[in-house]
Formats: sequence, C-alpha cells, structure tokens
Amino acid sequence: MRKYPEKHIPVMPNEVVKYLLWKKEGIYVDCTVGEGGHMLLLAETSPDSYFIGIDIDSEVLQIAENKLAHLKNVTLFKSSYTDLPVILKLLSIQKVSGILIDLGISTFQIKAEGRGFSFNVDEPLDMRMNLEQAKTAHDVVNTYSEEKLADIIFQYGEERFARKIAKKIVENRPINTTFELVEAIKKALPYSEIRKRKRHFATKTFQAIRIEVNSELDNIKKFLEIAPDYLEKNGRLAIITFHSLEDRLAKHFIRNDPRLKQIAGPLKPSENEIKNNPRARSAKLRIAERI
Ligand SMILES: C[S@@+](CC[C@H](N)C(=O)[O-])C[C@H]1O[C@@H](n2cnc3c(N)ncnc32)[C@H](O)[C@@H]1O
Repeated sequence: MRKYPEKHIPVMPNEVVKYLLWKKEGIYVDCTVGEGGHMLLLAETSPDSYFIGIDIDSEVLQIAENKLAHLKNVTLFKSSYTDLPVILKLLSIQKVSGILIDLGISTFQIKAEGRGFSFNVDEPLDMRMNLEQAKTAHDVVNTYSEEKLADIIFQYGEERFARKIAKKIVENRPINTTFELVEAIKKALPYSEIRKRKRHFATKTFQAIRIEVNSELDNIKKFLEIAPDYLEKNGRLAIITFHSLEDRLAKHFIRNDPRLKQIAGPLKPSENEIKNNPRARSAKLRIAERI
C-alpha cells in the first residue's frame, strides 16, 4: 500500500443522509464510494437497506473494503459508474431507491505517494483514477497539439491564460514530472497574475489535465443520461460537485430532464464544516427525485 498520511472526510454527510435515505428497506448505490466515508455513514444509518458501492480506483477501493468489512449489507465493485446498468443487471436489480455520486477527487488520490495529481509534490505525471487505463497526464502533456492543449486548459480549467500556458508546455517538452509542469505554467503567467490568485497558479491547468485524462465530463454526462432510468418512483439522486463545470452540467440536466425534479439544493457546506474540512469549500449538493 502507498504511504498515505491523511483520511478523506466525507462532504455534507448529514445532508446526504437526510435526503438520500428516504426508504427504510431500500436499495442504494454509492457510485463513487472512494474511501467509503459516505457509505459507512449510510449503511450504518440504514441497516435494513442494501448498499452497492462502485469506484474506478482499485487502490481507493481497498481502503473502502477495509473500512466496510464489518457490514453485511454492502457490496463493492471496481468499475466505472457508467457501468451502473451492467452492475445492476448482474445483481438482478431493476430499480433502486437512491443513487449518490460524489464527484471530484479523493484525498487518497491527492495525498498518497506517486499518483501524480498534486502540484505540491514532485512526481511523475500520471493523474489516472483507473490504474489499468493506458492514457496518463504524461501522454496528454507531451503528445497533444498546442491547440488541443489550449482548448482543454481553457474549457476544463476555465483558465484565461490557456493559450500562453499551452505554448510554454510545448516549448518545454518533454515534461516528465508535476514540478516540471508547474514550472512551464509559471513561465507562461505574468508575475502580477501569480501574486493576485487566491489559489495556487497551477490549480486550473492541473484540473483541466485531470479532467481530460479521466474523461470526467463525458462520464458525468453519460451517467446523468442513464441514472434516472434505474430509480424507482420517488427515488433520489444526490449529486455532489466541486467546480462550476460539473455543477452547471448537473443543474441543467436536472432542470431539463422530465424524469426528475430537484427537491433540494444547491446546498453548500456550513462555515463550520469548511473549517474542519477545507476541501469541502467548493462543494455543492443537489438532490433530485424520480417523478
Ligand atoms: C470525492 S471521491 C469520493 C469520496 C467518498 N464519497 C467518501 O466519502 O470517501 C470521488 C471518487 O470518485 C471516483 N471516480 C472517479 N471517476 C469515476 C468513475 N468513472 N467511476 C467510478 N468512480 C469514479 C474516484 O476514484 C474517487 O475515489
């Protein structure tokens, strides 16, 4: 197991429990079980329900397996949440009472040695959530055209300096590590911009490359299309997003989908929660109900 100094704290835990667990003997799916934080809480709160947990990251899932081993009402799958129909078919389940999807990245992925997601430690560029996948951040950074990189950084990172950053990346190839990427980004940004930013100047570019490596937005779109079909009447869909691109997708999807109505949200973490768990600061929770 990789060195792992910090535990993941589930975001808006009380709100998730309150809105998702509407049925006592229900079937619930946690599509991004991660380190099992939400799942533990849900399964302990509703011991007569059955819980299915999915995660694409085999290492994260191992942590969840250990955390949830004592629970008889939980089954875990190493898979993509876009495979939800296949997993339910395998279990001969047609409809479920609730589905949770907690987007973004787990603390393990950011903090464990060697996963290459963080601009704070120097590691080979990787950023894969699915360790069996071929494409890494190294491939994206070193083989994409300047134009394609600029589009990705602009669209997925909402970075104004995307064109300049893409140019510097291409000029500085090969870029093998996270720190080499940070250096290229630094060279592209005016000093005044670096000083002005509240968050680290590489945040947006790293987010963009991570989204591209893991096809995050495509997966979310696929998931939003299929998930409502597997909810029973009055079944609940809880979506936690961490940046505006994800939240916009969730908001518009719920608003325009005749199968769903939003019953709560966007809920935000309290000041107190953010104090205890700064990573929750940009989270938004939306709850929709199957009509
Ligand atoms: C924010 S974490 C979830 C944390 C979890 N709710 C907890 O309380 O511990 C997001 C998780 O989504 C997983 N993930 C990302 N893309 C996925 C996909 N396509 N299918 C399944 N899981 C995915 C990541 O591996 C990560 O563990």
